[in-house]
Amino acid sequence: MGADLHDIRYVRIGTEDLDESIRFATQMLGLELVGREASAAYLRGDDRDHNICYVRGREAGHVLGFEMKDMAALDAAAAMFEDAGVPVRHGTSDEREQRRVRGLVTIKDPTGNVIDLVARPAASGKRYYGTRDAGITSFSHVGLRTADAQADERFYTTLLNAKVSDWIGDAALLRIDEVHHKIALFPSTFAGVQHVNFQVESQDDIMRSWYFLQNHNVRIVFGPGRHPTSGARFLYFMGPDGIVYEYSTGVRMITAEDEKTYVPRSFPAVPSSFCMWGSLPDIPEFKTEPDIARAA
Ligand SMILES: [Fe+2]
Repeated sequence: MGADLHDIRYVRIGTEDLDESIRFATQMLGLELVGREASAAYLRGDDRDHNICYVRGREAGHVLGFEMKDMAALDAAAAMFEDAGVPVRHGTSDEREQRRVRGLVTIKDPTGNVIDLVARPAASGKRYYGTRDAGITSFSHVGLRTADAQADERFYTTLLNAKVSDWIGDAALLRIDEVHHKIALFPSTFAGVQHVNFQVESQDDIMRSWYFLQNHNVRIVFGPGRHPTSGARFLYFMGPDGIVYEYSTGVRMITAEDEKTYVPRSFPAVPSSFCMWGSLPDIPEFKTEPDIARAA
């Protein structure tokens, strides 16, 4: 009865300093600036129209956008959410224009994360051309804060047909296609985007960026390391407004054939569940009970 998400599409991030967010995203992260307005900037790391829209003012909050297969699927999803008692807001023409989409409805998950469901997003006729050679191949997933991991998991798996790929502690890593996860839930006390992931071509890109970012005084908060869940090699670093960015490569695919036998695994909330190489996170939402005990 739930709605199928076709793909992850964008994040919108309210920022204290729009110019600084653009500088970081282009010069450090390696994104391409594709549009600049008085109070918003559009950037991308793949062939989509845009992956991130920075909006002037932190009060704009965070929004995660998912593409539905077509307009009919979007309408059906809106009706389904209304039936399920989830408040649905239909986007105005201005809001659709700001998001470069033809169809838009907005809902919230139980924690209060704002989710745009969109149809017919603008296609781009140009390939992505990064500001620096970070090796980015695509915008891939978002870490979302969850104040109630079970309620949010139920929301995404029943109303939006996501599947649990694995858990770390209480929190689920959720897939909507073959990629191991496109949504990762992390326990928190408030709603919002916790990290933004871009896939890079190889481990060489991760190591090159590790040195590049350190040389440019960007704070590395986790890695280089390897997730035992998805198998991806990763690097996490801190951007403006407290947003963590991640490069990763080699994420596990759960194919249609794998689906027949795949069973999600329950990893305990210990450091080795986040990194099988031994790197320890400097990210509050990745802190595990032993970390907290050590810090106390
Ligand atoms: Fe991630």
